[in-house]
Amino acid sequence: MGRSRPGKRCVNLVAHWGRGDSSEPPGRPAMHVLIVHAHPEPASFNGALTRRAVEALTGAGHTVTVSDLHAEGFDPVAGRHDFTEVADAHRFHYQTEQAHAAKTGTFSAEITREQARVAEADLLVLQFPLWWGSPPAILKGWFERVLAYGFGYVDGARFDNGLFRGRRALMSVTTGGTPERFSEGGSYGEIGRVLYPVEHLMLAYMGYEVEEPFVAYGAPRISAEARMACLDSFEQRLIAAAAKPAAPLANLHLRETITDAAWARQA
Ligand SMILES: Cc1cc2nc3c(=O)[nH]c(=O)nc-3n(C[C@H](O)[C@H](O)[C@H](O)COP(=O)(O)O)c2cc1C
Repeated sequence: MGRSRPGKRCVNLVAHWGRGDSSEPPGRPAMHVLIVHAHPEPASFNGALTRRAVEALTGAGHTVTVSDLHAEGFDPVAGRHDFTEVADAHRFHYQTEQAHAAKTGTFSAEITREQARVAEADLLVLQFPLWWGSPPAILKGWFERVLAYGFGYVDGARFDNGLFRGRRALMSVTTGGTPERFSEGGSYGEIGRVLYPVEHLMLAYMGYEVEEPFVAYGAPRISAEARMACLDSFEQRLIAAAAKPAAPLANLHLRETITDAAWARQA
């Protein structure tokens, strides 16, 4: 994780984000980008960031899907309703049910739709405000339900060997706190530490190459000019990220590697 730079309101944590774009040969392949957008208000700064992302990426010839979790009424609560078949009717063990659903193609329609969106994306963008030091519950629920055992990970396939290796992911985060508070020694702690669970224990775990996060600090209080500069900076970061090569899309459903009740431990 990069270091935040106190004093700047909108901090692009990659020092030379422009380079990848300019060194790309003409005719590079178009990427497919999934933006998972977790904010209830379209007129928010998060809404503006996602709109700018869609405009910039499509303008550069890429294709974009937005999973707008609030607008689509995404249910963040995990449970039996995630599955159309039951692996064990006596004891609900979530990963065992996920393994069964991945093997048999029996996730609920909502999860199946979201997994298809993830599976076809070369670049995954998570757009969210920091709420109590982490992604909002609706996005956390999306992680838990969509990035299921048998889809997001299986035994023996993690990090460098993860199912999504060769693909990229980028977090775009807005905060109420200032860069100073999120700097090393700041009262909230260094932003890289705050975002580490998502960066390392989810995205890197699944095999994604994780871009340095884009952070818009103090979003509720910045000026209109600073917001515009932030949107411009975000656009450049996205274009640079989408210009980097991505691995060919692999067959993610390695059903033969999913063992029955892989994670279940009887009490
Ligand atoms: C429930 C809730 C929890 C929040 N927790 C934090 C926090 O832990 N750290 C922080 O810097 N800002 C926090 N904020 C402020 C938001 O991050 C900030 O208002 C938002 O990023 C601004 O973007 P928006 O205008 O698109 O909503 C919180 C806001 C809410 C509503």
